[in-house]
Amino acid sequence: MSDTKITALVLAAGKGTRMHSSKAKVLQTLLNEPMLHYVYAALKPIMQDNILTVVGHDAEAVQRAFPDRKTKFITQDEQLGTGHALQVSWDAVVKTGATHCLVINGDTPLVTVDALHRLTNVAGCCDVAFMTITPRDTGAFGRVVRDPERRITAIVEAKDYDLNRHGPVTGEVNAGVYLLKIDTIGPLLSKLKNENKSGEYYITDIVELAVQEGLTIDGVQCGDDISLMGINSPRELVTAENTLRSQIVNDLLDAGVLIHNPETVIIGPKVRVEPGAEIFGHCEIYGNSTVEAEAHLGSYNYILNSTFEGGSDIRQFNHIEGAIVCKGCRVGPYARLRPGAVMERDARIGNFVEMKKATLGEGAKANHLTYLGDTEVGAGSNIGAGTITCNYDGKNKFPTTIGEGAFIGSNTALVAPVTIGKDALVGAGSTITKDVPDGQGAVARGRQINIKRRLKKS
Ligand code: UD1
Ligand code: CA
Repeated sequence: MSDTKITALVLAAGKGTRMHSSKAKVLQTLLNEPMLHYVYAALKPIMQDNILTVVGHDAEAVQRAFPDRKTKFITQDEQLGTGHALQVSWDAVVKTGATHCLVINGDTPLVTVDALHRLTNVAGCCDVAFMTITPRDTGAFGRVVRDPERRITAIVEAKDYDLNRHGPVTGEVNAGVYLLKIDTIGPLLSKLKNENKSGEYYITDIVELAVQEGLTIDGVQCGDDISLMGINSPRELVTAENTLRSQIVNDLLDAGVLIHNPETVIIGPKVRVEPGAEIFGHCEIYGNSTVEAEAHLGSYNYILNSTFEGGSDIRQFNHIEGAIVCKGCRVGPYARLRPGAVMERDARIGNFVEMKKATLGEGAKANHLTYLGDTEVGAGSNIGAGTITCNYDGKNKFPTTIGEGAFIGSNTALVAPVTIGKDALVGAGSTITKDVPDGQGAVARGRQINIKRRLKKS
């Protein structure tokens, strides 16, 4: 409808007592992304940046988790209920100049763009619309009450439901997503009361108040659509997480990604995997990671915010975070790439090698038992087993530079800051504290002496 303008209001101030955690419930993660991420992802295509969020419990942490959001956070200092959250936000909603407010519980991470469209489509037809579901277990959901003509008369919270007063339950419950017409609903907000078993102001009481005013109400029935389930407990969280996990993995399989043992593969919602990539379970791939076509990820890898170009071969049991692995590289088994690790074309790292803020040039190798921190390694260099860059003096970090074609012998300590020249060679067992010029060899270890052995006479 062209004359409707909708602002979304996300209710995210509650503590989530049933999660038994000091962390705000909306920051609990599914596939390594906070619950709120999913709510914003569903809202964004419809609302763009017309999104307000009410925060309260752990408010600063919630705001910090979404630093790029252009939209406003509103603080509900005391969490006196969902109706109170609406009251404290209403001025901000009205100021956006919207005709309607789409209110959504922040603990609804499976909600889809399609479901939200079904609600926004009825914007022109009523004063209050909300989504209803008929789940197998109606649990603690608010019950939808209808009169004999099937007209909605109220939403009654489970604990306040009185069979004598409200009649037999219908099985239809409130999903916690509402569309409110600002002109007609605004005046009702001050009438909300907290006379109920929880002593809270309920947003759901708006419905009964609207009926009393003769306003129009619509319940958009979504059947047993599990995408509208709220998350209140650890069990509900992992149920939703499993649903999301299999959706993502199945979509990738359908798109042409070869995923072996798919039920053991976990891929986050922001990860990009190209058709033609091959992944073996168990694997976890999270954050802003990219796996290009022809990249190969072996089993038991944990990956966060990393990029794998086509033709890279990630063997088993690696821990990889914030890394870039270019074409033709080989990693592991048992390697650790930490943030800032860059492997240029055809580079290799092997077992028990750790890289942090370090670049391995084209074709360079560090195949065994090595730490490269704050280090640049030139193309074609070989880093021997047991090489350690000593980059930290207890206070500060210092860089190590290794030129192209250098050869670092096994069990070498490179005490930074230090530069090993192009085509230079370092003898095994050296502790290098001074620069080694291009093309020169350096040995820095005790000279070997051989002494005649005294054997005990028997
Ligand atoms: C709510 C509905 C219930 C519905 C269910 C759907 C009410 C009174 N009940 O119940 O009818 O079936 O959702 O999932 O609304 N919040 C605030 N400030 C507060 C309290 C809560 O922002 O003072 C936020 C929470 O962070 C949460 C959302 O509102 O994201 C819903 O609160 P919650 O306590 O989970 O409500 P439910 O008991 O699930
Ligand atoms: Ca809830």
